[in-house]
Amino acid sequence: MRSVADLDVRGKRVFIRADLNVPLADGRIADPTRIDATLPTIRFVLDHGGRPVIASHLGRPKGKPRPELSLAPVGEYLGQVLDRRVALAPDCVGDATERLVRGADGPVLLENLRFHPEEEANDAGFARALARLADVYVNDAFGAAHRAHASTAGMAKHFREKAAGFLLLREIEFLARLLRAPESPFVAVLGGAKVSDKIGVIENLLGRVDTFCIGGAMAYTFLRATGKPVGRSRVEEDKIGVAHDALERAAAKGVRVLLPVDHLAADRPEAGARTAVVSADDFPADLLGVDIGPRTAEAFCAEIGRARTVLWNGPMGIFEVEAFARGTLAVARALAASRGTTVVGGGDSIAALAHAGALTAVTHVSTGGGASLEFLEGRELPGIRALDEPATEPLT
Ligand code: 3PG
Repeated sequence: MRSVADLDVRGKRVFIRADLNVPLADGRIADPTRIDATLPTIRFVLDHGGRPVIASHLGRPKGKPRPELSLAPVGEYLGQVLDRRVALAPDCVGDATERLVRGADGPVLLENLRFHPEEEANDAGFARALARLADVYVNDAFGAAHRAHASTAGMAKHFREKAAGFLLLREIEFLARLLRAPESPFVAVLGGAKVSDKIGVIENLLGRVDTFCIGGAMAYTFLRATGKPVGRSRVEEDKIGVAHDALERAAAKGVRVLLPVDHLAADRPEAGARTAVVSADDFPADLLGVDIGPRTAEAFCAEIGRARTVLWNGPMGIFEVEAFARGTLAVARALAASRGTTVVGGGDSIAALAHAGALTAVTHVSTGGGASLEFLEGRELPGIRALDEPATEPLT
């Protein structure tokens, strides 16, 4: 895949589709990780004499302007970290925006792409209007690469010169390594609420991993599929069959699946609940699981310690409640201590890593939630495919 570093950007307007969809709290950026992750691409364009036209969505405004989802705070932050003025366009298309972009000698940040319903509809006219704003196209928005929207897919066909930004390239490099040539032993630690969110990844990794460690609420559906009691734990009744089939296929392929052998159980899923460590064979009928138990945590951490490649996606329990966070934090620390390649995806796992002070100790933290899962499911992502397609309708 072509890199932004292969483009001649001098004197050109460079459309940079970034994923600046950051969490906001009271109008302020609560976590700038995604903005920071795309800075190398923006800096490269600036350092090589290009004029960045930066575009992103923020939240889900459903096709209407919503002032609280303006990219203004992102523009301010970008101005600070780039140490230069970043002009915020009044919109992402239209005459006023075009005039601003054409006249600017520094970076311009377009207003939220999703203020227009045509963005998510991948409308051809809207894609063309966006494309008119630039001479070359760079996609660095890995987090939105699974969306076939006007800015991530539709507009690429209007450019002869297009490439991936450094963040997108790095994401592809590390995630593709898990699918192509993972160093063995390869352990996938999966958690989170739903089997349905992770089953595609489990299926696609079946021929690639040596061991799955399954925790979080999804483990209760798997345990039910093996006939174990789970009390009042959250179970996806309609996914018990799916879980059962996955376990059978894993066994047929000689892939080990470690399910919890003990749990932290509680009378309610809230702080202050009455809790008990219970064995997986004796789950009390009146309690529900809120974390993996200590023996399970030890077993999962031992697997992680032996592995040369580890993928982690999804917490081991309701880690937002401190009393239920032990299992998730143990996994985070084991990843940090690993000497293998460690790749982490999913907002909750990343938050747990940050909580354990281990964010910089892993090899790769993916900025994409849904995008990283779809990539690991083996699906082709529209935002990546578009960069490989020919310029069937160039504007220049
Ligand atoms: C994300 O937060 O995962 C990306 O920015 C994509 O956002 P979306 O799920 O609203 O398309």
